Amino acid sequence: MDRQTYLTELSERYVAAHPRSKKHFERAAHLLPGGGSHNLRLFAPFPFCDVGAAGATVTDLDGRTYVDFWQGHFANILGHNPAPVVDALTRELNAGRGLATGFPGRHQAELGELILDRIGADRIRFTTSGALATMNAILLARAFTGRKIVIKIAGGWHGAHPLALKGVHTYHHGLNQLESTGLPEYADSEVVVTRFNDIAALENTFARHGHQAACLIMEPMVGSGGAIFADAAYLTRARELSCEHGVLLILDEVITAFRFHAGALYSLYGVRPDLCVVGKAIGGGMPVAAVAGKAEIMALAAPGTPHSRAVKFDGGTFSAHPQSMIAGIAFIRHLVEHETEIYAYNGRLGRMAREGIEQRLAAYGIPAQCGGDGGTVAEHSSIVAVHVLTDGSEQVHDPEQVYDPARSDRELCDVILKLGMLNEGFHVVHGYGALSYAHTEEQVARSLDALERIAKRLAG
Ligand SMILES: Cc1ncc(COP(=O)(O)O)c(C=O)c1O
Repeated sequence: MDRQTYLTELSERYVAAHPRSKKHFERAAHLLPGGGSHNLRLFAPFPFCDVGAAGATVTDLDGRTYVDFWQGHFANILGHNPAPVVDALTRELNAGRGLATGFPGRHQAELGELILDRIGADRIRFTTSGALATMNAILLARAFTGRKIVIKIAGGWHGAHPLALKGVHTYHHGLNQLESTGLPEYADSEVVVTRFNDIAALENTFARHGHQAACLIMEPMVGSGGAIFADAAYLTRARELSCEHGVLLILDEVITAFRFHAGALYSLYGVRPDLCVVGKAIGGGMPVAAVAGKAEIMALAAPGTPHSRAVKFDGGTFSAHPQSMIAGIAFIRHLVEHETEIYAYNGRLGRMAREGIEQRLAAYGIPAQCGGDGGTVAEHSSIVAVHVLTDGSEQVHDPEQVYDPARSDRELCDVILKLGMLNEGFHVVHGYGALSYAHTEEQVARSLDALERIAKRLAG
């Protein structure tokens, strides 16, 4: 079937099924630019308005329920509103505790200890978003080394701040563009982009910039760049090169920490960074992120550091907010206590989805490759991103493949599958998303049937 005709049909069906969400969105669009506060949540013709979420599902204003594979930007490893977190928060609120006090409190040391134990780092400082955490990690690295250049990966997303908005999604002869206007000049001149999973390119980047570089910041699994895991040899080489050049290695584990086991992904690779950034899952659904790492680097954030070396890493008014700490403690404790069953289960569903998608779409001539396969490093991977590679490649190896329109069909994955699956009762992101402990095999099986129906219509 002609793609444009199919897309129009999908859109009309969606609009007809969501009169209340449409009305709500029209109001929101008058008040908020684009109708919301995060562009990833805003899709055409308009996002449904969620009014409730429990476990695997989310319900909208029009009374429709979806199986949700987005799960709070991948934060919700146990599904929406999991009982251990809701119970802990309710208990504290009922006891008259939980809102901001502006005092240190006893919870942040407890959550800090839990996280540090699991990821094997010395010190931690909390903030409220992954972007703030990566920004502060980079400032720490620049202060510690006395150097300025930041090396980052093409396709690496570390949140929206000036030192991370180069070479993320915008493809123009490669991923090397500034992603925003309004940036200071140093957002370009002080950030050097290198290709993921390409050891020769990394060696070349270090040969040219290593002596001036403060840090290499990278995700061990590039998330928004396609859910692509670092080759073990690449990550090991990144560690070696950074040590040789006196460059700090910052591993951004905002998506990956506590996603594949109750700890950091870097532990599964056997690589230790100088600093790491954690977020999403560590708050159990509340807004928390943190920088963790070696004591001598983290010390630069503490009061009393000589002015010439001090980093103004203030986590913010709501940093280590009591509710966020309480939720994080309940969540991480639960993940640790039930680690074996949770991750084996989530990983099994992830594998089922990835294999099923590739097989079902291939049957209709669509060469789908799923990102999120952690191979032998992260065998319990619950991440599933769909790629349709049009250049004959058999594997997704780096984000440049994903964002090059000549090599990958993003419209199919991000627009057609999104609307098609919504009409089938599934909410997907990047073609699919992530499994949680609340999802069932039956839901995954139904989602595969739905994908197959979409593929059949496209092929027909
Ligand atoms: C790897 C990574 N780092 C940083 C961020 C930014 O986190 P936040 O959205 O909490 O600012 C994200 C967000 O998706 C992310 O995926």
